Amino acid sequence: MKLDISNAPHHLARLGEEWWRSAVIYQVYPRSFADSNGDGMGDLPGITSRLASLAALGIDAIWLSPFMRSPQKDAGYDVSDYMDVDPLFGTLADFDDMVARAHELGLRVLVDLVPNHTSSAHKWFEAALAAPEGSAERAFYHFKDGKGENGDLPPNNWLSLFGGPAWTRTTNPDGTAGQWYCHLFDSSQPDLNWENPKVQEAFEDILRFWLDRGADGFRVDQPHAMGKAEGLPDHPDLARAGAGFIEGEASPPMWFQESVHPIFRKWRAILDSYPGDRAMCGEAYVLPLSFMALWVRSDEFHQTFNFRFLNSEWQAQTLFNTINESFEAFDSVGAPSTWVLNNHDVLRHASRFGGLKVKPTDSDGVGPNDPQPDRELGLRRARGATLFMLGLPGSSYIYQGEELGLPEHTTLADEYRQDPTFFRTNGARVGRDGCRVPLPWESGVGAANGFNTTGKAWLPQPEIYAGYSRDQQEGVEGSTLELYKHALRTRRELGLGEGSFEWSPQFLGENVLGYRNNHILIVHNFGHEPINLPEGKILASSLHGMKDGHPLVADQTVWLQLS
Ligand code: GLC
Repeated sequence: MKLDISNAPHHLARLGEEWWRSAVIYQVYPRSFADSNGDGMGDLPGITSRLASLAALGIDAIWLSPFMRSPQKDAGYDVSDYMDVDPLFGTLADFDDMVARAHELGLRVLVDLVPNHTSSAHKWFEAALAAPEGSAERAFYHFKDGKGENGDLPPNNWLSLFGGPAWTRTTNPDGTAGQWYCHLFDSSQPDLNWENPKVQEAFEDILRFWLDRGADGFRVDQPHAMGKAEGLPDHPDLARAGAGFIEGEASPPMWFQESVHPIFRKWRAILDSYPGDRAMCGEAYVLPLSFMALWVRSDEFHQTFNFRFLNSEWQAQTLFNTINESFEAFDSVGAPSTWVLNNHDVLRHASRFGGLKVKPTDSDGVGPNDPQPDRELGLRRARGATLFMLGLPGSSYIYQGEELGLPEHTTLADEYRQDPTFFRTNGARVGRDGCRVPLPWESGVGAANGFNTTGKAWLPQPEIYAGYSRDQQEGVEGSTLELYKHALRTRRELGLGEGSFEWSPQFLGENVLGYRNNHILIVHNFGHEPINLPEGKILASSLHGMKDGHPLVADQTVWLQLS
């Protein structure tokens, strides 16, 4: 097989431009990063105390998953007060301290904003429930009468992404059955009505609140869900589309509505009115990428997550197509492509690539009764994949723990599970807890390896995590941590994030992909046969001990400076 590059894009270098075009952004999952008070839940002071190690890793910014007030039914993606810190994680003063420390270290801070839904414990929703049908309070959300003689059937056929219907019926104050409300996620996450100008105004205040406190921008949760087709009609083809959408087909009634774009333009103008290049990255799960690119036009989001890349099988042909599609789509609107292999919703790549037949973005998870990944193979491939990704120009995302080569916790017992996906599917989908387990910092310090000193942890670590602790890898040649550090340092020194992209015809085939970024050749071997490399100096290798002149072996990536 020969991959056809006659129409493949050439991406040109963009030097000296805004930071977010080339930034490496590290996702902090506050519950599981570092716990300062020993209650088993990570917190903001814990993050602050460990920021120096992130600066030393060589990243540019952090994105924090939600830490606002929340009943934590969906790990904080169910916000009950957007302008306060949940006591589990600390206080607003702790947030200020964290931002100050991050800025001192040269790191920017992106805050997670959840606009599609609030928590059912938010005062807006409580007021809506208490108010009569048709009231201004109810107009904050999507309340509708049920179908059927007694209104006891949901208003339409929409499904929740976490399983079951997307509607829950309310009970009136007098005990009778009432209207239904819409929730594309858990029933504790009612969807807001973004047609309502009051909702729009409220969020503009929320944006300003965090920007005023020094946030450098936002990661925006589920922006493509915010608009709903007028009248909330049935999904025309749910049997085929599941709760989601069929790629490239017309917009389903609960996703990608045109009506939301003016909202993001307003948000962009708000960000632009602040000094210091504030930025927002949308979790716009919109495919194909030519559709996603519409979300990063120059007056909307700065970035979106490249879910095509995240979801790609680690296979030459698929990745070849994905990378071409990415540059074509994002270059056409002048936005950077992002590259991402992990986040808090998907199986960690060190497990995913260990011979498992799973789609990463299904968020189904792997449990003790499922086939288990080959850890060694998974890590070897994950390291190769990361090095391949970090050589690409654009902005890259790293999810906490991947720099340690952490595998998914695939043997977590059901009694510990917290993800609503598990409960809403009666355990049929074990969900996302396995990638959210607290980080091991110092091997043997408490039962949670330095996550705190008490050993308490909201999700228990598997025993093997001790061997992945940061202190076991710091300064150890060939460790995954040192590989990440070296790659990030070299990427910065060589300006690869701002660099160019062009396939290297000599290294394109069924089992090999090679590209050039500026003068650096980056090659990955997807097959088993060794591949000879041209003469040059090895700048980075995903396998330890690679000497100049060695052939490239299975699953290996190298960065090569050609002589
Ligand atoms: C996003 C978040 C996910 C959350 C969902 C609902 O996909 O990443 O964790 O469950 O939105 O807010």
